[in-house]
Amino acid sequence: MYDDYRKILDELKSKSHFRNLKDFQGKDEKYIYYKGKKLLNLSSNNYLNFADNKAVTEEFLETVGADYSFGSASARLLTGTLPVYDELEQLLSGLYGKEKTLLYNSGYHANVGISSALNGKGDVIFSDKLNHASIIDGMQLSQGKFFRFPHNDMQALERLLQRERGMFNNAFIITESVFSMDGDIADLKQIVEIKKKYDCSMIVDEAHAFGVFGDKGLGVCESLGITDDVDLIVGTFGKAVGSVGAFVTGSGVLIDYLINKSRSFIFSTALPPINIAFTKWIIENKFQKTKEKRERMLKIAKNFGSDSHIIPVIVGGNKETVDLCKVLFHNGYFTLPIRPPTVPEGTSRLRLSLTADILEDELKVLMEKINESLLVKSDK
Ligand SMILES: Cc1ncc(COP(=O)(O)O)c(C=O)c1O
Repeated sequence: MYDDYRKILDELKSKSHFRNLKDFQGKDEKYIYYKGKKLLNLSSNNYLNFADNKAVTEEFLETVGADYSFGSASARLLTGTLPVYDELEQLLSGLYGKEKTLLYNSGYHANVGISSALNGKGDVIFSDKLNHASIIDGMQLSQGKFFRFPHNDMQALERLLQRERGMFNNAFIITESVFSMDGDIADLKQIVEIKKKYDCSMIVDEAHAFGVFGDKGLGVCESLGITDDVDLIVGTFGKAVGSVGAFVTGSGVLIDYLINKSRSFIFSTALPPINIAFTKWIIENKFQKTKEKRERMLKIAKNFGSDSHIIPVIVGGNKETVDLCKVLFHNGYFTLPIRPPTVPEGTSRLRLSLTADILEDELKVLMEKINESLLVKSDK
């Protein structure tokens, strides 16, 4: 029984693509405990170190947390909307200067729910080739058509729009701001120009930028001053906020449409009130205080050639990438190999994600180890 599946798993193993779950012993801010070692964790999205942070957790529980429960026991449209959900939505609407905001249970729920609901029959989405799987899945579930333009290639996007825009009713351009695997940043100002010229709506997924970029920590749209030009902004709480969940903010009509038509929103139990309260508490009390730290992190990343706190180190082969991670493990660093299908074939890599408490020297030593290890390999 299950021979077909076994065969596929064997194939994955033979290509070093097989994945399994790891039994970590614990996490403590920027460190992770694995196989009896304390390692500097360069593979989390805990950009501001609010997750796995005893002091932050204790402060929240002592000041606010005791008022909230661990289960909402209902979807939002049934009995799952308590005041704290509205408060967080209103807080975000106010910060972004948008009419309305809607919470989702995760970034995955948000992207799947938004693209699949808004892209109806006769509509179209133009999506950056490197957009997250959740955006791709949402487009695939939609009734409309979609095109994927080459990564950050504005000329290709414009050519596509010249050719296709006239054939469709509503049109959306979707991009991430900070790309999750490459750490580069979309040409958002140019996309704003293009969306205006071709009468499209623009959706920006700020999953990796929310809490990190911008004066108030709202993301790249804020830092570029284009928040008003972007129709829908998506952000997630499972990364810099150290919580769980996501939001989309924008026009009242679109948000009302999502409340009524977005299946991943409608048919899922709302997040626990305590998580919503934690997210709200972090945004209200901690975002502004981390400004200096996150700016320092971005400066360190710049010194290592990246426009964001995500630094890709492209190795190429799967096995070489896995081997490099093992060498780094023995030197006190936790890194993960990123392999196809997450990234294109032949571009397996380490994705180093920094946290706000990283020291420049820690990264310098790590880069030296990587270079040494890759040089030894190429000499063989
Ligand atoms: C760009 C982007 N969007 C959305 C998501 C999904 O967010 P979540 O983990 O909250 O489901 C991710 C997750 O890694 C992401 O990288």
